[in-house]
Amino acid sequence: MVNIFVWLVICVFLFADNLYAGPYTSSAHGDSAYGVSRRGTSQYGRGHCAHCHEQHASIDGDEPEPDGNAPSKWCLFSNNFETLATSSPYSKEDNVCFYCHYSTAGSIQSLPGFNNYSYSYTFGGATSLTSPDNIFDAFYSPSYHNLKDIYDFITGARGSHINFANFPADSNPCSGCHNVHIARRNKAYPGNPSYTAISRPSQHTSLWGDDPAERMSSVTYGTNYQPPYYRGLTNLEPDGASNDRAIQAAKTPDYVTFCTDCHNATNTIESTTLGRTVRKIDWANSVHGMQDSWRRLDTDERRPPYRAVNKNYVLACTDCHEPHGSPNYGYLIRKTVNGGVTDVKANTNSDWNTLCNKCHTHSHSMQSCINCHYHGAEHMHGRPIF
Ligand code: HEC
Ligand code: HEC
Ligand code: HEC
Ligand code: HEC
Ligand code: HEC
Ligand code: HEC
Ligand code: HEC
Repeated sequence: MVNIFVWLVICVFLFADNLYAGPYTSSAHGDSAYGVSRRGTSQYGRGHCAHCHEQHASIDGDEPEPDGNAPSKWCLFSNNFETLATSSPYSKEDNVCFYCHYSTAGSIQSLPGFNNYSYSYTFGGATSLTSPDNIFDAFYSPSYHNLKDIYDFITGARGSHINFANFPADSNPCSGCHNVHIARRNKAYPGNPSYTAISRPSQHTSLWGDDPAERMSSVTYGTNYQPPYYRGLTNLEPDGASNDRAIQAAKTPDYVTFCTDCHNATNTIESTTLGRTVRKIDWANSVHGMQDSWRRLDTDERRPPYRAVNKNYVLACTDCHEPHGSPNYGYLIRKTVNGGVTDVKANTNSDWNTLCNKCHTHSHSMQSCINCHYHGAEHMHGRPIF
């Protein structure tokens, strides 16, 4: 009873509307031109809070889509997240976000609807043939970020050393990386991260990437971040508008700091998909990270644009990984990397080489590359080999 009372009081406040005024109205959801607009709720202007939060199960005596749902915690129109959904395939009902971030035909967002493609597509120039066109389908992929595992990690329920204070029980796992009230529409301006859609879990109430110090051009990386090729192999990610390293690095949010909020050298993270804890990521001591490679003069064995002599290249996690899901068999490996297509259907050396050979010409084994080259791997002289 106490809970219900508290939530009814909060629901009244929700409709006071000024809680999030500034950042909310410039967010993707709050925008009056392309923001939220749920079918059957035309009495509320586009972008209004009531497209996601309902005071009662019905609005003006009618029950809009999705019907049959009593107001849930936070007075959302449906359950925020279904914790019984421990792995993919998910259903639309498992996550309030999926009701809209679904195929256009099945979405409750008013027509004409909208699309969201993969990172490879939006920031790498991949084609729609290699990308889902909505977020639900991305999480339906063979390889995906497990939402219940993320939920358990951010709420401190399982497998974590830290409990990000922003996530009470019943939080939405998508909120580990996004703040629904402030996320902006980077896809429309892939070269301008002041429109970033992400928030670090440890800094949930602000955006990540909007500040120049939060980009791959920051002092942490100096000139060592080389954005990979965009499709066409002339210009660079994230928007394919220039082939200048510095210009393009300054358009890229610092995804290393973002991902390592969770995947760092100390956190223990359990994975249902892998059936074990995930490897710790120690980017300071990885050759693809801050550690210099030992064969740095060997430029003829590396493909452009990674051919500078005596340079300690640092890569961003999203140069190789998708954030949501991927058609490759595992590890969220992008379908396009450095301007070319990968095809990792199984754990074999030839399949994995479709990733490695996007940047390396060298391949030297009959075994699967990731038997030896995995995050954290060291060879006998103590040098990192991945
Ligand atoms: C009522 C429908 C609706 C719900 C529910 C909804 N969204 Fe959205 N979302 C939208 C619309 C509409 C846009 C802007 C569409 C566009 O890109 O043109 C958007 C945009 C976004 C963006 C910005 C990137 C972009 O493509 O514009 C993010 C990030 C996002 N949503 C995440 C979420 C998350 C996370 C949830 C759940 C916590 C959620 N959304 C729930 C309708 C919805
Ligand atoms: C592990 C972190 C992470 C999780 C969990 C996550 N996202 Fe994302 N999301 C990202 C990153 C990184 C991007 C790419 C940056 C961008 O598009 O601006 C992104 C992009 C998006 C976009 C914009 C895609 C476009 O068109 O470019 C939407 C919409 C979105 N996410 C919704 C969701 C929803 C809904 C969920 C939960 C079902 C979710 N995300 C879970 C990290 C995450
Ligand atoms: C796109 C859907 C959507 C829209 C639009 C939206 N919210 Fe929310 N809101 C959510 C979700 C989902 C949660 C739960 C967040 C979580 O679990 O991390 C939430 C949580 C909240 C909470 C409680 C916890 C918190 O994050 O502060 C308040 C208060 C709130 N919303 C107010 C508002 C107000 C006021 C507006 C309009 C100015 C608004 N919301 C618009 C989806 C939305
Ligand atoms: C909010 C915490 C969080 C953030 C931020 C986060 N992850 Fe994860 N990640 C997890 C959890 C929990 C798992 C274990 C569940 C799973 O395997 O999907 C995981 C698993 C993974 C896996 C293994 C997936 C598999 O099962 O094969 C990869 C790869 C990965 N993350 C990459 C990334 C990248 C790249 C980023 C940044 C774009 C990122 N993660 C950001 C929590 C996070
Ligand atoms: C997006 C480009 C890219 C991809 C994909 C990539 N690498 Fe690399 N790799 C690099 C760069 C750049 C360096 C040099 C880093 C430095 O300067 O410290 C490097 C360094 C290395 C090194 C250190 C040895 C040396 O001196 O060159 C090894 C070993 C390696 N990569 C193995 C792999 C394997 C195995 C794969 C596939 C699973 C792979 N890489 C995928 C770009 C890439
Ligand atoms: C049996 C373990 C093993 C397997 C399997 C393996 N490697 Fe290696 N690889 C190593 C070791 C050890 C080194 C470091 C050799 C040295 O010290 O020079 C290395 C070095 C490299 C380098 C950097 C050296 C250079 O000349 O650029 C690349 C690139 C590389 N491997 C790619 C691959 C690829 C691609 C595959 C899969 C087709 C693969 N490796 C499979 C153990 C392995
Ligand atoms: C050069 C491409 C490349 C880059 C850059 C890269 N990864 Fe990976 N990642 C891989 C490959 C290949 C695997 C599969 C082998 C393994 O498990 O390490 C993998 C696996 C993972 C896994 C699952 C580890 C496990 O337990 O099997 C996580 C988590 C992960 N990456 C996170 C990250 C994060 C965080 C970053 C940035 C700090 C990052 N990756 C940068 C290629 C890359």
